[in-house]
Amino acid sequence: MNVVLGVGGGIAAYKSCELARALMQRGLSVRVAMTSGAQEFVRPLTFASLTGQKVITGLFASASPEATLSSAVEHIGVAQENQLLAVAPATADLLGKFAHGLADDFLTTLYLAFRGPVVLAPAMNTHMWQHAATQANLAALRARGHRIVEPGDGYLACGSVGPGRMAEPEAIAEAVWAELNPRRDLEGETVLITAGPTQEPLDPVRYISNRSSGKMGYALAEAALQRGARVILVSGPVRLDPPQGAALVPVRTAIEMRQAVFDHLDPATIVIKSAAVADFHLASVPSHKVKKTAARISLELDPTPDILSEVGRRKGDRLLIGFAAETENLKAEARRKLETKNADMIVGNLVNQSGTGFESDQNEVVLALRTGDFVELPRASKRELADLIFDQILKLRLARYATQS
Ligand SMILES: Cc1cc2nc3c(=O)[nH]c(=O)nc-3n(C[C@H](O)[C@H](O)[C@H](O)COP(=O)(O)O)c2cc1C
Repeated sequence: MNVVLGVGGGIAAYKSCELARALMQRGLSVRVAMTSGAQEFVRPLTFASLTGQKVITGLFASASPEATLSSAVEHIGVAQENQLLAVAPATADLLGKFAHGLADDFLTTLYLAFRGPVVLAPAMNTHMWQHAATQANLAALRARGHRIVEPGDGYLACGSVGPGRMAEPEAIAEAVWAELNPRRDLEGETVLITAGPTQEPLDPVRYISNRSSGKMGYALAEAALQRGARVILVSGPVRLDPPQGAALVPVRTAIEMRQAVFDHLDPATIVIKSAAVADFHLASVPSHKVKKTAARISLELDPTPDILSEVGRRKGDRLLIGFAAETENLKAEARRKLETKNADMIVGNLVNQSGTGFESDQNEVVLALRTGDFVELPRASKRELADLIFDQILKLRLARYATQS
């Protein structure tokens, strides 16, 4: 199989030499296309020597007056000859150009001409990574179905510490391999996923909510779709584009979320409740805006419906997975929830650690199982964890078949 490795102008370009080797070790033929920025960091000769193929260094590099049409329109030829486009490092600049369809060099033009799967490994300074523009570009690219190999946390070449360091070459090569050889082990399953926060109105202009970003639930939806499942995504208000192929059911309040879950429960074979549903709400919301006065006011809140418990009572032979976001006693809480809600697995995560939890792209979770065991998953991107969680869910499925037969 043939892949194009696009290399952008970031310090991590040197790591892409190792990536080229890791891809070739998997039997892939690797054609490298470097941006002019990338050529400031690594010489094309290095990649040419590693891959044994001519490196593409520009849109017009091979378009001499004597060139034939096919050699001159190389971006179209390369797009047709390769099964996958991987870009590492994917600079902030490249993410922006891909997201907006700009095509002012070979790699960006190839991107538009390319029809196969795309794997992007971003790398940049933490502030560049966290900038709203970069995050909006990433959301658009994710929604297009591209696989983003999330950068890790750590010391960056610019001297700062935080997210932005390109994933290790082996992890990127694994993601490329997974895209080329997709697992379809969730085919036939319908996965109902709840994600994001709920908003509980206090009056027509105010509400109470929580810090859930929905990233974990959306990562689970993306993983399930890629592994062949049908996905119904019941989502509270989030700033994420739903993955392509998911049936999105947008909701706002806990009551609406409960209704949406039971409206769509019938076809579901797996239910994953990753939403951070408000525990309390104002049962009777005033129809007018509450006026500011000097007096203290107090809110009397009522408990919201416990959707997880209710699904637990009515789940039939569905697999039910709940989430426990805790700030202490994680394992004990996950175990308590597993038992009291009749769930098959609880994914517990501590939301008060730096670099993981609600708004983060990374997470560190522990899975509580009905056998009494805990499975501790390593700190990883939410997308990687989503696959590890589904691996565990499939083990539960197999164990159930084994006890039934
Ligand atoms: C020393 C140096 C290091 C850089 N590292 C990065 C980086 O890691 N990530 C990034 O997005 N941009 C980085 N930049 C900025 C890019 O090189 C710049 O945005 C360039 O236009 C990217 O072009 P390209 O994406 O077409 O390769 C760096 C610039 C310099 C001078």
